[in-house]
Amino acid sequence: EVLNLIKDFCVTDKDLKEYMKLLMADLHKGLAKATHPKSIVKCYPTYIQDLPTGQEVGKFLALDLGGTNFRVLMIELQRNHFESISTTFVIPQEKMVGSGKDLFDHVAACLHIFIVEQKLESECMPLGFTYSFPLVQKALDRGLIERWTKGFKCEDILGDDVVKVLQEALIRRGIHKNVKIKAVLNDTAGTLMACAWKSPYCRVGLIVGTGTNACYVEKQQNAEMFDGQDHGGGIVLINCEWGAFGDDGSLNFIRRPEDDEIDKNSINPGRQLHEKMISGMYMGEIVRLLLLKCTKHGALFGGKASSELNQRDRFLTKYVSEIESDEPGKFDNCKAVLEELDLKNANESDYANVRYICEMVSRRAAYMCSAGLCTLIKKTGEKRVTVGIDGSVYRFHPHFHDLMMEKMSSLIKPGVVFDLMLAEDGSGRGAALTAASAL
Ligand code: BG6
Ligand code: GLC
Repeated sequence: EVLNLIKDFCVTDKDLKEYMKLLMADLHKGLAKATHPKSIVKCYPTYIQDLPTGQEVGKFLALDLGGTNFRVLMIELQRNHFESISTTFVIPQEKMVGSGKDLFDHVAACLHIFIVEQKLESECMPLGFTYSFPLVQKALDRGLIERWTKGFKCEDILGDDVVKVLQEALIRRGIHKNVKIKAVLNDTAGTLMACAWKSPYCRVGLIVGTGTNACYVEKQQNAEMFDGQDHGGGIVLINCEWGAFGDDGSLNFIRRPEDDEIDKNSINPGRQLHEKMISGMYMGEIVRLLLLKCTKHGALFGGKASSELNQRDRFLTKYVSEIESDEPGKFDNCKAVLEELDLKNANESDYANVRYICEMVSRRAAYMCSAGLCTLIKKTGEKRVTVGIDGSVYRFHPHFHDLMMEKMSSLIKPGVVFDLMLAEDGSGRGAALTAASAL
């Protein structure tokens, strides 16, 4: 019965091929001047034109805003070696949805604490700012806030230059003499840069975390919105902002009622529909909705949901990883999760079904990412590509990597070779490398 109730969550290769065609068309729309204004997948040029050479040296500060954690880092690059120190800070919920000034005063306050802790008060260091939201970049160190995604919403600063907003907060805090903001970059770009530092074939960066997005290396001649001065390499990193894919209805053929429900209850209805089918901010909630649906049909928990299970966002995305980490035939984690949700009378068949539902949801996400990556790899025109990847879903889900390897192998154009590489300290090192390229 459960199988039947959630069979719609299966995406076939035929679906994925259709998805790839649509995404490719959307990439072209985002890149071209004539179609960019109305495009859905924005393909913002990042102004990063130089992949790491391995010769970068120096000490840098970095801010990492927009993932699960807000972090301040100090990175020392020494050619093929690097050291980094970081501190994680909490961003209170009310600052995520309040005024831009409050949010950035908080960012500056955290940076100040870090500077004092690390005894950097008498130094002036270059800073790379990993800012993981849509940004209309005008230069490596200038970008206009286009829109907020994930749980953030500070609408009063929409359209403002985020570097200026940060700089003003540093001035208010009195630490502007300690830092020189050299670059602002997306987390996908940071991930790509960090991996390119290690792998000469890295051309794509992917995040599957709180949100999802990808960037890739494009020829400047194809990036019509790019108006920078060529450094000689003729390339520029493109921040696709693929989270918005489907916002014009193009993904409706694989969207399901649960996806609608997630969207309706979010703080940005109608937006980031692709992201809402994939990323960690929503995955647990999709599973919860499916669990409820199956319970209502009497196919789970004897037809009775607990009040915990009825609570929105109560099924955490990390539960999906935990449940799928159980060895086949064993349900220890699954049992523990269901107990946490006050579903104490669940039986063996419930465990198996809950696991199956988790698998369907995470597999759909992994397959869509796979199709997305194959599209980007095709767009690069390269025969051999390494993809740098970061984010909590990819990092902590026990099978996400394998699912992607398997699906990409079947979707990739024959003759093209790829590999998927976990980014270690992506945003820190990526931000430092990008700041270094500006020096
Ligand atoms: C982190 C990076 O490892 O992953 C961030 O440092 C990035 O820059 C993040 O935004 C994405 O994953 P999550 O799960 O924290 O959203
Ligand atoms: C959201 C943001 C995007 C970011 C992604 C992953 O989609 O809009 O900029 O890269 O999340 O963090």
